[in-house]
Amino acid sequence: MSVIEGQEEEIDVFSTRLDGIEKSGIRKIFGMADEKSIHLGIGEPDFNPPPHIAVALKEAVDAGYNKYSPILGLPELREAIVERMKRYKSDITMDNVMVTMGASSGLALSSMAFYEPGDEILFPDPGFVFYKPHSMIYRAKPVCYALKHEHGYVPQPDEINELVTEKTKAIIVNSPSNPCGSAFPKEVVRGIIEIAEDNNIVIISDEVYDEIIYEGEHHSFLGDYENVVCLNSFSKTFAMTGWRIGYMVSSPDIIEHISRLQYYAIACPSTPLERAVLAGLHGPLDFIQDMVQAFRRRRDVIVDRLNNIDGFDCLKPHGAFYVFPSYDFKINDTDLAIHFLEAGVVSTYGSAFGKRGQGHIRFSYANSVENIEKGMDIVSDAVADLERN
Ligand SMILES: Cc1ncc(COP(=O)(O)O)c(C=O)c1O
Repeated sequence: MSVIEGQEEEIDVFSTRLDGIEKSGIRKIFGMADEKSIHLGIGEPDFNPPPHIAVALKEAVDAGYNKYSPILGLPELREAIVERMKRYKSDITMDNVMVTMGASSGLALSSMAFYEPGDEILFPDPGFVFYKPHSMIYRAKPVCYALKHEHGYVPQPDEINELVTEKTKAIIVNSPSNPCGSAFPKEVVRGIIEIAEDNNIVIISDEVYDEIIYEGEHHSFLGDYENVVCLNSFSKTFAMTGWRIGYMVSSPDIIEHISRLQYYAIACPSTPLERAVLAGLHGPLDFIQDMVQAFRRRRDVIVDRLNNIDGFDCLKPHGAFYVFPSYDFKINDTDLAIHFLEAGVVSTYGSAFGKRGQGHIRFSYANSVENIEKGMDIVSDAVADLERN
């Protein structure tokens, strides 16, 4: 039972939905950092949005785009999103698209729309910190599937299949992955879709890093299977995590149902932001390639540095901007992250992303090569006196 503590009488005001819901472990560590720390913790590009998008935001406000937008988002923006998403699903139309407040609100609304008490929800471990609490809020049972080092942190469809029961309602997938940086090959995407089709399971696909891919191309879960909800966002693509704007792509029926929830949750997306990202989609997109190019250089530096420190084993990520090395020092991952923080580097302990994250540390390489090099010098010195397993 949830209560307000520290009062003379404990008053029971909160819904049981809050039971077991804790503050994210990621934020705990960030709160302990000071300005001098080298930040390899945070999951956001260190760039600014392209200038023409910032100009378009101001122009939108000046031109009077300050009123409510349609619940689903501005038609012209939905149309521009359709054009971009056609590479994944050629027959997509505006009816497949709703603008959201970042992928975060799309994920939250999806859980609200699908999860019921007793449902089983499959989610990746290690995986992004939202998935498990979302199922807990709706009293659905979170069931994790493993992302393993020996499989390059790519899920194995046969292992997922073994976890499916008649209670399985949804499977959450995230490629490229936060925190692992893995990108799923086409066969894996196809294999998971087949399992979902055979068992009438909804796929909730978090594809916020689809543009940040280093080898080959991104394989989306969008396609012929109707029960796929794909969440995407401008947060990472246009380096605007603070703007809070993203989108959902799904079947017209699912979009119509979830748009009802969107109305009662947020009324509508932000009109001036919609105008600004529309200008972004219509304008030159070389910003994205330049950003990915910078991330690729940084990835190569950090992977190389980590693998040259005895005790770390770091796979080369294929997407997103995180490395997730395992280590064999005699220290748990929370204490190791604190040890690094005291030495001057912010990282995130692996178990913040699930039980299987134990024995790992996540470093974000959304920072300059110079800072990554400095950070790795500090990390290298900080582990020198740690005992090995
Ligand atoms: C895998 C993943 N999904 C969703 C989000 C949230 O994205 P948004 O800023 O669009 O809400 C993040 C942010 O870090 C993420 O890493």
